[in-house]
Amino acid sequence: MNIMKVKTIAVLTSGGDAPGMNTCVRAVVRSACAYKIKVIAVMNGLQGLIDGDFHEFGPRNVSGIVHKGGTILGTARSKEFRTKSGRKKAAKNIINAGIDALVIIGGDGSFRGGHELNKDFGIPFVGLPGTIDNDMYGTDFTIGFDTAVNTAVQAIDKIRDTAESHHRLFFVEVMGRHSGAIAVESARAGGAEMALIPEVKTDLNALIKSIREQKDAGKKSAIIIVAEGDDAGSATEISEKVYKIVGAKGHVCVLGHIQRGGHPSARDRTLASRLGNAAVKALKSGKTNVLVGELKGSIAFTPVTTVVKKKKKADLKLEQLARLLGT
Ligand code: F6P
Repeated sequence: MNIMKVKTIAVLTSGGDAPGMNTCVRAVVRSACAYKIKVIAVMNGLQGLIDGDFHEFGPRNVSGIVHKGGTILGTARSKEFRTKSGRKKAAKNIINAGIDALVIIGGDGSFRGGHELNKDFGIPFVGLPGTIDNDMYGTDFTIGFDTAVNTAVQAIDKIRDTAESHHRLFFVEVMGRHSGAIAVESARAGGAEMALIPEVKTDLNALIKSIREQKDAGKKSAIIIVAEGDDAGSATEISEKVYKIVGAKGHVCVLGHIQRGGHPSARDRTLASRLGNAAVKALKSGKTNVLVGELKGSIAFTPVTTVVKKKKKADLKLEQLARLLGT
């Protein structure tokens, strides 16, 4: 496709919502308008493409959202889009609306959908990394991760007050079905004793040994961060197993979706604004089917074919550092 002819783009948010998605939508819409490109907002993610839920947006449609959590466009995990017939309906709507390319803000599942749509029907797109999980190849940070970690750390700080006052053992469960990124980062920043993550096989005996050793060394409380996808189970299950083995009663706190909500941090807003603008510039200059990310502080374009094949793993050095400093 001759991208110099890009006159109309569509923007959508897809998958789990993440703080900073709104900031990113704002950046895409206002950048496109500044470059005289028409913008269509698609409601409810990839499902909105199937439903033809399209609305033309101008700069005023994105007023007052720079600081708001969630996504004003709505989002979904569309089962129908995983079928070729669903994608066919979407492609028809996109072509009928005169949309030349899509900007998809979401996680790897959303890009897989965009990639399939491109393979089947030739619809070009660029992806922007919007997920709290920070598990996306091609960017050092995803939009929403910093805010989620800050939310988790604030909660850990509060739990610490009770843990220290009552000399208790706590298991705090954070999000990350397949990724330990939030767990290791919040464990380190929150001064937790340990992080149990899907990337590392959990050895409960080693965990118990470490809790005992720390107790013998004079520690009166402990906080263990558990990523929800840990192989040893949920925080509740791990706590029960530990209780059965050593009789040490752990208290459990599951942070859940509070990590996905709230005002985006300044860092997430800056990242979202920068990447949103870079995505529109990329389309203008003829780049399509890439993830627009930030690597070592610079804008980086990674082919979506690579992004959907590879997975970024949590930084295990952070996990080791958290463990070392938590002794
Ligand atoms: O991908 C973001 C995420 O928050 C994961 O950390 C979590 O496992 C999942 O979404 C939960 O999804 P849902 O809100 O659909 O249950």
